[in-house]
Amino acid sequence: MWLKLVQVLLGFLMLFDVANGRLLKFTNVKCMDLPTNAGITKYEYCRLKVVRRNHVELSLKVGLLKLPITNLTTRLQCFQRSDGYRPFMYNVLFDFCKLMGARRYHISFERFIFDTIRKYSNFNHSCPWNEDYMSVEKFALDFTKVNMPVPAGVYRLDFTFYSYGRPLTLTQVFFEKIE
Ligand SMILES: *[C@@H]1O[C@H](CO)[C@@H](O)[C@H](O)[C@H]1NC(C)=O
Ligand SMILES: *[C@@H]1O[C@H](CO)[C@@H](O)[C@H](O)[C@H]1NC(C)=O
Repeated sequence: MWLKLVQVLLGFLMLFDVANGRLLKFTNVKCMDLPTNAGITKYEYCRLKVVRRNHVELSLKVGLLKLPITNLTTRLQCFQRSDGYRPFMYNVLFDFCKLMGARRYHISFERFIFDTIRKYSNFNHSCPWNEDYMSVEKFALDFTKVNMPVPAGVYRLDFTFYSYGRPLTLTQVFFEKIE
């Protein structure tokens, strides 16, 4: 229990660490429809835009071709680059519909991530999913001040979406912490 809580807090702080000139920014994004997706998804775009120095916006859109979608689960896994990418702290599988639907969802890394993205996306309602796309528009990492000794480096967050256990898409977001 405590370990879990500490991990969650570390995750929050890692994402918000900007004190003393430290900075976090997106460096790359890769999106793919997986071969197992049975024509359910089609990525339309996935890109970063450098708006000004140290302000990089992420936009992506994936079309959903077979509606409604009634079952969605998501794996969220974090990696740290060192001699290739190695698993780092988080590897969670959760019910995406439940996360979207619940007003009161337990505090967790995935909730933090999706609460942060929410107002830049259409990740704002539960299932069944009847909209023919999922999108994130112009989302930038925007920090308040929290100090935390997480190592500088390059990190990657992998989001894999599944419907009834079938892998649909993989979205990889790379970001860097600079001291
Ligand atoms: C969800 O997001 C979409 C796209 O931004 C918006 O049009 C819609 O009004 C939002 N719905 C809710 C319930 O906030
Ligand atoms: C969604 O599908 C998965 C895999 O079939 C299953 O384990 C899970 O219980 C389903 N979720 C819901 C809410 O029915």
